[in-house]
Amino acid sequence: MDSADIRARWLKFFESNNSLKLPHTVVPSASLIADDPNLLLVNAGMVPFKPYFLGEVKPPYKRATSVQKCVRTLDIDEVGKTTRHASFFQMCGNFSFGDYFKEGAISLAWELLTKSTSDGGYGFSEDKLWVTVYQDDDEAAQIWEKQVGVPKDRIQRRGMADNFWSMGVPGPCGPCSEIYFDRGSAYGKEGGPIADEDRYLEIWNLVFMQNIRGEGGDKNSFPIVGELPAKNIDTGLGLERTAALLQGVENIYEIDTTRIILDKASELTKVVYGKNEKNDVSLRVVADHARTAMMLIGDGVTPGNEGRGYVLRRMMRRTIRNMRLLGSQDLVMSELVKSSIKAMGPQYPELVSDSERILAVAQSEEDSFIQTLKSGTSIFDLAADQLKKSKSTALSADTAFKLHDTYGFPFDLTLEMAREQGLGVDEVGFRKLMNEQRDRAKADSKAKKSGHTDLTEYRAIIDKSGATKFVGYENISAEAKLTGIIVDGKKAKEVNAGSEIEITLDRTPFYAEGGGQLADGGRIKLASGAIIQVEDVQTPVPGLIVHRGSVVSGVVKDGDQVVAEIDLERRLAISRAHTATHMVHKAFREVLGETATQAGSENAPGRFRFDFPSTAAVPISVLNDVESRVNELLIADLQVHAEVMSQDAAKAMGAMALFGEKYGDQVRVVSVGDWARELCGGTHVSRSGQLGLVKLLSESSIGAGVRRIEALVGHDAYQYLAREHVLLNSLTEIIKGVRTDELPQRISELIEKMKGMEKELSTVRSAKAMASAASLVKNAKAMSGINLIVEQLADEISVEDMRSIALDLRSKIKDGVVVLATVVSSKPLIVASVSPEAIKLGIKAGELIKTGSTILGGGGGGKDDFAQGGGTDSGSIVKAMAEITKVISGKIK
Ligand code: ALA
Repeated sequence: MDSADIRARWLKFFESNNSLKLPHTVVPSASLIADDPNLLLVNAGMVPFKPYFLGEVKPPYKRATSVQKCVRTLDIDEVGKTTRHASFFQMCGNFSFGDYFKEGAISLAWELLTKSTSDGGYGFSEDKLWVTVYQDDDEAAQIWEKQVGVPKDRIQRRGMADNFWSMGVPGPCGPCSEIYFDRGSAYGKEGGPIADEDRYLEIWNLVFMQNIRGEGGDKNSFPIVGELPAKNIDTGLGLERTAALLQGVENIYEIDTTRIILDKASELTKVVYGKNEKNDVSLRVVADHARTAMMLIGDGVTPGNEGRGYVLRRMMRRTIRNMRLLGSQDLVMSELVKSSIKAMGPQYPELVSDSERILAVAQSEEDSFIQTLKSGTSIFDLAADQLKKSKSTALSADTAFKLHDTYGFPFDLTLEMAREQGLGVDEVGFRKLMNEQRDRAKADSKAKKSGHTDLTEYRAIIDKSGATKFVGYENISAEAKLTGIIVDGKKAKEVNAGSEIEITLDRTPFYAEGGGQLADGGRIKLASGAIIQVEDVQTPVPGLIVHRGSVVSGVVKDGDQVVAEIDLERRLAISRAHTATHMVHKAFREVLGETATQAGSENAPGRFRFDFPSTAAVPISVLNDVESRVNELLIADLQVHAEVMSQDAAKAMGAMALFGEKYGDQVRVVSVGDWARELCGGTHVSRSGQLGLVKLLSESSIGAGVRRIEALVGHDAYQYLAREHVLLNSLTEIIKGVRTDELPQRISELIEKMKGMEKELSTVRSAKAMASAASLVKNAKAMSGINLIVEQLADEISVEDMRSIALDLRSKIKDGVVVLATVVSSKPLIVASVSPEAIKLGIKAGELIKTGSTILGGGGGGKDDFAQGGGTDSGSIVKAMAEITKVISGKIK
């Protein structure tokens, strides 16, 4: 049974094919990018339903089913080594929101697993299945035994670590019951799942979700801080594991969808699978990671050094590393990603239509990683050299961290290369530095997004007073009621002037930062006369708009009536930027095609930036075309308007939707004329003419495969151009008698002229040096029949001239050695020329130069008869020459 069939049977069974007659709504898989401040990536089927489980949002259905894309990287080191760990997998789930509970979930699971394949089931034989329940869950044990008829000795009880499910972070949780398949005695010892989890493979987890997990604790014991508003069901069947069993293969890397990638890796490396365990592990890691990377890029993640970007980067780097371990030095990502798309495309058709962009991101990350490998290797070599000189045996944590943090050099590679050179690495210190850095990054981003990680107080407000109504599309000020006050993460009743404060209102004109648009600023005036200056506005939990700022005067009390008023100028300047972003986005897509889809943006007062995937720099001509197209459409003064409609209607109108954004059934479509249409919750101007002017400033790379455009709009754009104009005028004043349009021509003439003069000067200098070189012959020292010239010449003699002077001198002194030095642009340069007789004595030009360059803080080398080198420290020339003389005399004696 192939994976697509397993998936189809799952959805069909819960939609309509179950004998309990419990129809479930089929919900498509959400993006891997979790809409949750506590979670980097979706790691379970229930994640998109979390607000329903928590009672934050009323579920639109009582029962649902899905096959959700998931990424888990906690067990990344297990991937490839066991039969069942994958970084990407699909979780088939059925969910009940306050509807059926334990009994329903258990009988549905049993029915689907054991029903014959001709009836739409999976056809597992009953006597191969085992179950576990939470140690105190008598109810579940009873249902399995009495109603389903599983023999008592195949029902095992386990503790919290195994049978109490949570997401590892605060959120919904509950006792669970797991279903295992016995693969037989060839796979391990008897005794059920508690004895051997390789032989007894877990396939399905039924979570009886009824509690809320608090902060802290570990998987053996964590605090339960409350009950969920309703008793729910959340289950997860591992599609890949089930496929391995139903397809009769040994492990999840050999099932239909993964094997394609594994075979590609084996074809590229010419390493045959199944011959050597170490190679097999690498092949499986490649198959797993390449697919995960492709799926992440597919959902809009771009490689980076933090968060999701880092997960993706790590996946790709480990893929490339393992391909290298398998012996491939070539570029591999493109082929591996193509196979991954081939494997997953039938289930996720958008991957096929988006393949050009996905490939572009993957390839460019590979290019930059290869560069990193090159530069990291030389930095590592240097550090290792110094270490050996200082007789230390371990690379310091600082160096390893710097290699990783500044140069992006993977730590496992540092470890491996150190091992090759017989060196250790201060791993403990390195991990400490990494943790410190992660904590800093986490604290920063959390503080910004959600204020305090503990969202309890925000949830309490929403439970009591409901979601905030945003009235800021139509109004710049509004009367409202204060619904909550939070100070330092704790609920407060009264707050005095001078304090930092967070407040919520029942309705507000303040736009919370989101969709790339920065937050509004402004003031909130209380009926009592107190005033709050608002500096930031965020949405820490869906639906709740939180105003952050400080109490300027008076006392703020919960429940007060207020007038909330936004800073209009700021709002208008931000709105101009936002409309401009849509227009520039559209114009880029017209010129560059679909791949120029926005991958991030920031709309700030008077300026905006806009990121999109592209492997190469955008040509200046394209930037000019886009800018001029947009400015023409400003003059055309197009109407900008927003409309709420169904997703389907929006699609039919050709509105663009962005990656990673979550849209409800009803979406807001912002149109600029009938030209640019985008799903967007932001604020905009009402006519394009109000933008005044749009000026693109720069285009640059911000990491593998992503380009950033920065631009100004409105008054800021005008001021910029005005400043440039003044600058140009002052140039025409300096270069007298030239019109501004003649400036480029005139400046390049001046530069050419300067170059010519420099060349002439250097010829004169060389001629002078050559002339004086003749006198050096007379000064040549004779040592045991070998003539020696070791001299520093005048400054600024070119390498070529140094070479010809050295050769000329040597031919004049016949048998001997000539070593000359000069300083060019403050940097030392040395050359050495050695005659055949001297070489016979063991004097080699390459070695002499190496000795000298090391002292000069640089490198160099060459052949036995001629070599050149240099460095950075011209103050050490005398020392370098003395050392070279010493080496020579050492050979002669
Ligand atoms: N949410 C449960 C799991 O991830 C089903 O195992």
